[in-house]
Amino acid sequence: MAKQIRIVEVGLRDGLQNEKQELSVAQKVMLVDKLVRSGSRFMEIGAFVSPKWVPQMADTEAVVKEVLANKNYKTVEFSALVPNEVGMQKALLCKAPEVSVFTAVSDTFTEKNINCSVDESFKRFEPVLKLAKKNKIKVRGYLSTAFVCPYEGLIDPKKTLKVCERLLELGVYEVSVADTIGVANPKQVETLVKKLTTKFPKKKIAMHFHDTRGMALANIVKCLEQGITTFDASIGGLGGCPYAKGAAGNVATEDVVNMLHEMGYSTGIDLNDLVKTAKWLQSIFTRSLSSKLSKIID
Ligand code: HMG
Ligand code: MG
Repeated sequence: MAKQIRIVEVGLRDGLQNEKQELSVAQKVMLVDKLVRSGSRFMEIGAFVSPKWVPQMADTEAVVKEVLANKNYKTVEFSALVPNEVGMQKALLCKAPEVSVFTAVSDTFTEKNINCSVDESFKRFEPVLKLAKKNKIKVRGYLSTAFVCPYEGLIDPKKTLKVCERLLELGVYEVSVADTIGVANPKQVETLVKKLTTKFPKKKIAMHFHDTRGMALANIVKCLEQGITTFDASIGGLGGCPYAKGAAGNVATEDVVNMLHEMGYSTGIDLNDLVKTAKWLQSIFTRSLSSKLSKIID
């Protein structure tokens, strides 16, 4: 039987948060529907962050409520980002079943992204985890700048391991280890992932690649070789991080799914439907999206 790989679709959050062209709530909900129909089962659909900081996510409450009201989506796991207790309270009001906290290895990026140091971010997460436990909500953790920080440069893997450990000790079920600005190379990935999977259970590590320099697919192959089975990806290769200048979007979901299927892995996603969704998205966007596959398949 083909080995199952879990794809976490982050296009509606990581993707859309950094697109100048904003989608309406109806368009976002339509995108969720198309992704669900193509077989996506894990999806991040917004962020309960400050609308002054990320205006593209200001409608998260409306999107989450509408999506969760759809009875056809019972088998899909939806989540949203929360940076602090204020965000968690909003997630609770919407009955979000899962949230993600996010911090980084480097203090400078964390200050620019969430206006506090790494240590302070952990203090902010404590009430989030407490509320999550009380309300039986799953919590995922993101670890940005795991390889390189746009402000501090190359990151020492020892520091990455330390903050990853802090996130797991906090109680997240999985850490998504991120190449925030999409510059890590396969050798670096092999080295860090070897260290991560030696220290922590493989099931607790997911990988999150941006594709600024076109190395994301090669990096994913390195992770597969180390037994990683969860990857984040963004339909059409949408977006980037608003507080990491120059970073391109996540690796395109359809390009990842195509590579995995070609290599004999199973994802539960229908590639043809996914490509159709990427093409539909491209018909809405005035800029050319980075997806390779949707440009060459009819
Ligand atoms: P702050 O200004 O330090 O917050 O922002 P504050 O506690 O001082 O509050 C200031 C105001 O914001 C108050 O309102 C709060 O109520 C409000 P006022 O009294 O002025 O009217 N506020 C909030 N409003 C809505 N939602 C909230 C919230 N919290 C406070 N949750 C804050 C701190 C974290 C809110 C801000 O810095 C922020 O929203 N940052 C957003 C960062 C972001 O979304 N970045 C992109 C996602 S991370 C990413 O892309 C990386 C990732 O993909 C992995 C990778 O690739 O590396 C995950
Ligand atoms: Mg990201």
